[in-house]
Amino acid sequence: MHEDQIRRGRLGGERGCDVSRFLSSMEADRKIAEADIQVDMAHLLMLRRQDLIGEEHARAIMGVLIGFSEKGLPEDVFDDRFEDIHAGIEAYLIDHLGEETGGRIHTGRSRNDEVAACIRIRARGEVLRLLEATNRIREVLITLAAEHTGTVMPGFTHLQHAQPTTLAHHLLAYEGAFSRDFGRLHSAFARVNESPLGAAAFASTGFPIDREYTAEILGFDGLVENSMDAVSARDFLLEILSACAILSATASRLSADLILWSSPMAGFVTLDDAYCSSSSIMPQKKNPDTLEILRAKSGTVLGSLTAALAIVRGLPMSYNRDLQEVTPHLWQGISAVQEGIPLLAEALATASFHPDRMEKEAGRGFSTATELADRLVRDLGIPFRTAHTIVGKGVRAGSLDTKTLEKAAKEAFGISLKGLGLTRQMVEEALDVRSMVSARKVNGGPAPAAVKKALKERKEQLRKDVAATTSLDRKVRDARERLLSEARGLLA
Ligand code: ARG
Repeated sequence: MHEDQIRRGRLGGERGCDVSRFLSSMEADRKIAEADIQVDMAHLLMLRRQDLIGEEHARAIMGVLIGFSEKGLPEDVFDDRFEDIHAGIEAYLIDHLGEETGGRIHTGRSRNDEVAACIRIRARGEVLRLLEATNRIREVLITLAAEHTGTVMPGFTHLQHAQPTTLAHHLLAYEGAFSRDFGRLHSAFARVNESPLGAAAFASTGFPIDREYTAEILGFDGLVENSMDAVSARDFLLEILSACAILSATASRLSADLILWSSPMAGFVTLDDAYCSSSSIMPQKKNPDTLEILRAKSGTVLGSLTAALAIVRGLPMSYNRDLQEVTPHLWQGISAVQEGIPLLAEALATASFHPDRMEKEAGRGFSTATELADRLVRDLGIPFRTAHTIVGKGVRAGSLDTKTLEKAAKEAFGISLKGLGLTRQMVEEALDVRSMVSARKVNGGPAPAAVKKALKERKEQLRKDVAATTSLDRKVRDARERLLSEARGLLA
């Protein structure tokens, strides 16, 4: 169908298929095709309200747009002879309604403000899906944590047994990270959801358009006011990608822990078979592949961010075609994280944990030595560094019984711990895994009492975040409904 109505004025000759395909964003534009119908409807409604298009023309165009939104776009608008979906739809309108009518839709706008609006509309929907997925995994973490406030396990630094903690405490550490991921995406939403429409090429337009109306009917919260900024800005997109890169780093780290815990070397958790693969040669194998792919995807997301930022950073104002090349990285980065988070949540929810194994490991490698040193400080009044040295020497000698400690104190400092009041019971209590955990009851510590308090707060925060997400989602859906009903109203 259709000649290239954008080229035909200024440019002569046919463009080769290779050049057309090279320039076209058509494949990537499938992502924004639905948004483009909305943007066209809003622009057309505005043109009509401002009396910038006659009623008959407006009704005819709207009829086609409503058809698109009900039945989907016909395949021929996606022909990659067109530079993009915007040109494809305009060509279709001209083809089917004649230029006298179809040739009027692009009054007072440019593809530059149009595409920016489309990307923002699609992106806000994607951000909402990410917010929902992030909340879901937070819910899983909180539910599991509530079941495991008494499940002691080893905590590691440098991947060496460090101090005992609880599974609940460990899971809430991830919940904290995911809640900040939520916060980053949620605050990005505000900057995504602003309308660039009306900026036209960059210098706005001399037609008396109504930017506030198109912004409002498309569910935007306001304008990207400066018209040059409006078409040039892609920081909203970089912000989403960086929030995605950080979110997927959180997911990757949780995956890394689960992979480690599921190794028979740890034996802390058994993953549901649904999330595992076997080996083509080793019949016994059960591998945590889903989590490995998740971990790898965070590299992919980082790649998308890097690519997008690398393109944007070199561009002068205002619109440059380079910007077209940025958008696919946004979709790629989003989808790399979006697919993984729900799978991670379900892999976690269906995993079975092994408290006995965890407890057994919790006390390994003198993991309670810190509490013993603390106890010497509290009960005997010696400086922490002195206690730290005495206990360290005991570990080096291979025992933390009173005899070994006494010997170490004598040799290193010429003092008698027994003389200061050290008893066997004191040492035994200090070295007990559970009592060490219970002693760590400061805010945010692993003691069951502290974790229960934290759980209450985390649940309340999650409840608020879920409500905030639902209300944004409702606002976007309501705007879409209203747009469609005004569009139909034009035909009535
Ligand atoms: N398809 C383009 C993009 O994604 C928009 C077209 C603007 N083209 C132009 N020559 N000004 O950015």
